[in-house]
Amino acid sequence: MGQIVFIPRELDPNEPRVAASPETVKRLAGLGFDVIVEKGAGLGSRIPDQDFAAVGAAIGTAADAKKADVVLKVRRPTDAELKGYKSGAAVIAIMDPYGNDAAVAAMARAGITAFSMEFMPRITRAQVMDVLSSQANLAGYQAVIDAAAEYDRALPMMMTAAGTVPAAKTFIMGVGVAGLQAIATARRLGAVVTATDVRPAVKEQVQSLGAKFLAVEDEEFKAAETAGGYAKEMSKEYQAKQAALTAEHIAKQDIVITTALIPGRPAPKLVSAAMVASMKPGSVIVDLAVERGGNVEGAVPGKVVTTENGVKIVGHLNVPGRVAASASLLYAKNLYAFLETMVDKTTKTLAIKRDDELVKATMLTDGGKVVHPNFAKAAEEPRTEPAAVPATTMVAEAADPKPAARKKAAAKPKGTA
Ligand code: NAI
Repeated sequence: MGQIVFIPRELDPNEPRVAASPETVKRLAGLGFDVIVEKGAGLGSRIPDQDFAAVGAAIGTAADAKKADVVLKVRRPTDAELKGYKSGAAVIAIMDPYGNDAAVAAMARAGITAFSMEFMPRITRAQVMDVLSSQANLAGYQAVIDAAAEYDRALPMMMTAAGTVPAAKTFIMGVGVAGLQAIATARRLGAVVTATDVRPAVKEQVQSLGAKFLAVEDEEFKAAETAGGYAKEMSKEYQAKQAALTAEHIAKQDIVITTALIPGRPAPKLVSAAMVASMKPGSVIVDLAVERGGNVEGAVPGKVVTTENGVKIVGHLNVPGRVAASASLLYAKNLYAFLETMVDKTTKTLAIKRDDELVKATMLTDGGKVVHPNFAKAAEEPRTEPAAVPATTMVAEAADPKPAARKKAAAKPKGTA
């Protein structure tokens, strides 16, 4: 019998994604693992149990976690889940560890070797494991779809015998992975697209997608990109100049989609209440940064709010989960690609190379200790520290019952990819 990989059903009611697909289960079996998928784990992503069983998975229950050498998950395990794991098991998920020191300490105490997929270095070898990219790309797409659904006019220009419908003016703020896909999607739908960012490298990318770039291009802007390709927090002076430039522009937009993030910091505030108030009734703002503090004043996590002047501010949580069937296939592949690097192909067992740069970057806890340098504070948590923050606390009520509704929908074979 091989070592066991367990795929649980995610407990969070706002999490329809699953950490395996029939394709990755088949490949896991190929690596020599016995795979157990918890009953119903794939339903939120339109993968019925029989599709997993057809490629060799055993369909089990949550209690099977105890047997697992490897647990593949979407979200960080809750305390209850941790109790169900074997000490020494490798658990790979989106751990969301920042600001959750107690939860990181709890994983150490549980004796698991926890890997945080969002810490995967952005190097060529690890591109196939980049969950931030695979999920942000879909979030950027879905943000435009959500905006279009809330918008009560058509996006493309339509010249008809009965008259002309003007194209929707769409402004994308923050052009990383999500922003680029939002530009591409809005363009495909026929919107007139402009975009802004603080990193100069973005300008050409925006233009190559057929959108217009708008930014304060001063000396600070020219130096705003870190060696890792991320944005820095901008100075107060820059922020004021940026606000002055964008205020006038936003007043004329029909749709604004914000995606701006700064690693390890709260999301920058880019759209003030006054800017929202300057927009025409019926305009739509989608704040993709709402889970990280939000780019838009007045955005509420998990809600679609309509302001006094009739502007809708969309703050959906877990936007990749709104396209779960696609998101899960890509996420599952990201996890598989990483796990594969930790398997000894001759003995067909897990052999974690602790000096590998991917392992070093992502490993949070190991051998009862917090080992990641960014969580030295969590490592000092007294062993008597009470329970960890459950992953579910960050999830307010979903704005829209879509994922749940999808769960109910009949199982269509597989997703889209
Ligand atoms: P992110 O999710 O951290 O941030 C989104 C965007 O917000 C970024 O473009 C950032 O510059 C922008 N932003 C931050 N503060 C802003 C402000 N005040 N005003 C306007 N915009 C602001 O970014 P993401 O999507 O993770 O991409 C970061 C970089 O990593 C990009 O250069 C991307 O091309 C690169 N990347 C590299 C990969 C690889 O080499 N394997 C894979 C994926 C991305």
